[in-house]
Amino acid sequence: MKLNHVERTFRVVTARKLATAGAALLLCLGMGGFAQANETATTICAACHGADGSTPLAPNYPNLAGLQKEYIVKQLNDFISGKRKSEVMTPMAEQLKPEDIEPVAAYFSQQKPAHGTPDNRMAASAGKVLYNQGNDETGVPACVGCHQEKGAGYLGPVGVYPRVSGQSVEYVKQQLKDFASGARANDQSRFMRTTAKRMSEEEIEEVAQYLVGAGN
Ligand code: HEC
Ligand code: HEC
Repeated sequence: MKLNHVERTFRVVTARKLATAGAALLLCLGMGGFAQANETATTICAACHGADGSTPLAPNYPNLAGLQKEYIVKQLNDFISGKRKSEVMTPMAEQLKPEDIEPVAAYFSQQKPAHGTPDNRMAASAGKVLYNQGNDETGVPACVGCHQEKGAGYLGPVGVYPRVSGQSVEYVKQQLKDFASGARANDQSRFMRTTAKRMSEEEIEEVAQYLVGAGN
């Protein structure tokens, strides 16, 4: 009887100790990944993209704040594999350890999306119409079908449609021109390349003016 009791107490205490130790270990591992991601994000990436994911520097550096996590992961892998080319960004992506990609993407995706102001309001309102309705005559599809209301983007069943609001006018224009020329060719099923090719320069300017201030 007595021995049984001692034995049971011992077992319970051991189990508790193990559980506590296990939890502490898991916490450490979890925190390690998070701290590592934070450090990478705030040391390497922040220089160009801002610690809060909104770029303090040149307008051709995209904002990462509020981009879908899966989209950031895809872009980083595309820079590393060479599917998406950038002299500036590729060496940065190459510095990431494979296990850092996901936590760094999560870090930026949780930031509050940027919200800019168009410098041409007339163009921005024309851009809003194009964004929501497309251009039937030239076959430009409505962007809203994939990038959602106000350019918020979403993770769909067959892929990720990135947030496109809160990017600078320059960045959006550059990406659309790069898709049109084929300089950027990492879109699955060529959809963005086909779309951008059908857009006039004016439409590219207008939609970029709309998107800079579209988000919330
Ligand atoms: C020296 C400046 C610089 C640094 C540092 C930098 N980037 Fe970039 N990043 C860029 C530029 C420029 C682009 C746009 C490339 C292009 O023109 O397509 C970009 C694009 C991106 C994109 C694609 C965004 C989109 O909307 O498609 C992601 C994701 C990204 N960077 C993540 C990171 C991460 C994560 C780090 C840190 C490991 C980092 N960057 C460090 C300059 C930088
Ligand atoms: C059929 C769905 C679809 C439609 C419609 C569509 N897009 Fe996209 N777009 C995508 C996908 C998917 C990507 C991401 C490609 C990749 O993986 O790099 C993208 C990428 C982009 C990017 C680059 C974002 C970044 O951060 O680098 C811009 C800008 C963009 N689209 C603008 C537009 C505009 C403007 C329209 C309307 C004229 C439009 N898109 C219509 C699916 C779509």
